[in-house]
Amino acid sequence: MSAATYDQVRHVIPEVEWALFEPEIEAIQRLKREQDAVILAHNYMTPEVFHGVADIVGDSLALAREAQHVEAGTIVLAGVHFMAETAKLLNPGKRVLLPDLRSGCSLAESITPDDIAALRRAHPGVPVVTYVNTSAAVKAASDICCTSGNAVEVIESLGTQKVIMIPDQYLARNIAARTGVEVITHPGACEVHERFSPKDIDDIRDGHPGVTVIAHPECPPEVVAVSDFAGSTAQMIDFVTERKPLKVALITECSMSDNVAADHPDVEFVRPCNLCPHMKRNTLTAIRRALETGRNEITVDPALEVPARRAIERMLAVKTRPEAKDHS
Ligand code: 13P
Ligand code: SF4
Repeated sequence: MSAATYDQVRHVIPEVEWALFEPEIEAIQRLKREQDAVILAHNYMTPEVFHGVADIVGDSLALAREAQHVEAGTIVLAGVHFMAETAKLLNPGKRVLLPDLRSGCSLAESITPDDIAALRRAHPGVPVVTYVNTSAAVKAASDICCTSGNAVEVIESLGTQKVIMIPDQYLARNIAARTGVEVITHPGACEVHERFSPKDIDDIRDGHPGVTVIAHPECPPEVVAVSDFAGSTAQMIDFVTERKPLKVALITECSMSDNVAADHPDVEFVRPCNLCPHMKRNTLTAIRRALETGRNEITVDPALEVPARRAIERMLAVKTRPEAKDHS
C-alpha cells in the first residue's frame, strides 16, 4: 500500500488502525484487478474505504451517473441497497455486488407501490417524483426519480404547478421552499437526519463562534432554516472545497466529516455525529468477502426493470452539473 494513501488519511486514521486496514486494502486491490471490478463508494463510507479502496466516490446522483459509464464487468457498490439496485438497473448485463445485503434505508422502507397508487387516486394527473432512496418497485410506479442534488431541476423540468414528491417529507418541504411548485408529501424520514434539531445548531454555534453550518436537505426544514447552506453530500463537499471556511460543521452522517477533513487539513471540522447503521455495514472485510465469494449479487425483478430504469434515466436526462470524483 502506498505511503501516499496513508499520508492522505493520517490525520483521520491513527497509524495503529491503519496497520490493521492495510492487508485488507491490499487484498481488495488485488481482487479488483483479478475480477475486473470497480468500487463505487458513497460519500458516507469510512475513510479507509473512501480513500483506501474506492475507484469512484460521490453522492447518489454521481454514483448513478458513473454507473452508466462503468466498463468493468463487476461493480461493488459500497453504499446501501437502493444504490446497488440503481447501478444494476443501469447495467443489466453486469454483476453488481453489495457488501452486505442488510444495508437498507429508512426512507426506502417507508413507502410501497400501493402508497403511490393511493396518492395518485387522491391527486389525479399529478406527476410522482420519487427520491432515489426507494426500491425498484416504487421507482417503477413513479414518473421520474430525483436526488437531493437535482430535485429542484427535476421538479422544474416537469412544468406542472403541483407534484407528488415521495417519500422524504423533509426533503420535499426543503425543495418546495426553493421552487414555485406545490409539493404533496409522504410521511417518510431518514432515521439519521431527522434526529438533528435547531437546538443542535444553536449549541454548535454557541460552542464554536464563527462556524459555518452546512446541512443535508433530509434534515427537518427548521434545521435547514438555521444553517448557512443546504445541499446533497457532493454539494456539501463542493461548498467546503470552493469556500474554504475556517471552521465548518457538516450536519449529516459522521463519516462525511472524516473524508472531507482528509482532503482539507486546513479546515477545522466540528463533528456533530449521527451514524447511518446501514452505510456502516460496508466494512473492508465485507467488501473483500463480497469480491472473494461473489455473494450478495443484486438482481431486479424483470417485470420492474423497464419502468424503474425509465424513471431513473428520465432523471439523468435532466441537466445539472457533474458531481463525481475519480479516486483511481
Ligand atoms: P446524497 O445523494 O446527498 O449523497 O444522499 C444520500 C443519502 O442517503 C443521504 O442520507
Ligand atoms: Fe437512508 Fe438516511 Fe442512511 Fe441515507 S443516511 S442511507 S437516507 S437511512
